[in-house]
Amino acid sequence: MEVESLPCHVGIIMDGNGRWAKRRGLPRIEGHRVGAETTEKIVVAASKLGIKYLSLFAFSTENWKRPKEEVNFLFNLMYQYVLGKLELFLENNVRFRVMGRLRELPSYLQEGFKEIELKTSHCSGMTAVFAVNYGGRQEIIDAVNRAIKDGHLEITEEVLRSYLYIPELPDLDLLIRTSGELRISNFLIWQSAYTELWFTNTLWPDFTVEEFKKALLDYSKRERRFGGINEK
Ligand code: IPE
Ligand code: IPE
Ligand code: MG
Repeated sequence: MEVESLPCHVGIIMDGNGRWAKRRGLPRIEGHRVGAETTEKIVVAASKLGIKYLSLFAFSTENWKRPKEEVNFLFNLMYQYVLGKLELFLENNVRFRVMGRLRELPSYLQEGFKEIELKTSHCSGMTAVFAVNYGGRQEIIDAVNRAIKDGHLEITEEVLRSYLYIPELPDLDLLIRTSGELRISNFLIWQSAYTELWFTNTLWPDFTVEEFKKALLDYSKRERRFGGINEK
């Protein structure tokens, strides 16, 4: 694939773990376990393909509505995942970042995230951004409130951007959502104003590198106009 036609920033709403498990008569958490393996494969593939930023929706601010056991399982899984994958991140020159209302997360998880962010901070390849206790609206509200505290009397796009969780994170070029749901579910609200959307019925544990490449190929054929007109 031509490098020019690759999206710089890809976001993925990794959905369908629960249904994957249900179809097999397994508890939902088994879907999350297998889903984490898919995440690993896609992180490595995306970095090898030359994607600069990959944002992965791992836990939304609305996911607290789930049973406590499932929520705790997800936090444990994320902890094991990030600490267990340190070598893999380093081998692939992947920088790990996390964004969301992190202070509301269990302290062991916050510590784990901090450690991996620090240990991969020198990595200059792809940045893998895990969105945890993340909500797009909350991100905007948090940004505005911090700007007010700093004395800003007026918000411009530039000011608002500079207060987002990761200010250098560019606008989202391509959003992939698995599991057949056709919605944004409060992911990257600000950054997705001009995002190309790509949906598949595949459940996240079944999602493959081949299908990921198909999404990139489809993206490369889209004509993005940003409100203008394309003159040939
Ligand atoms: C996505 O899978 C993972 C998280 C939201 C944490 P789901 O758990 O939402 O799976 P479904 O949508 O119930 O199948
Ligand atoms: C979105 O999936 C959040 C994550 C993938 C982490 P959900 O399964 O929570 O979304 P809804 O509730 O179907 O919109
Ligand atoms: Mg879901």
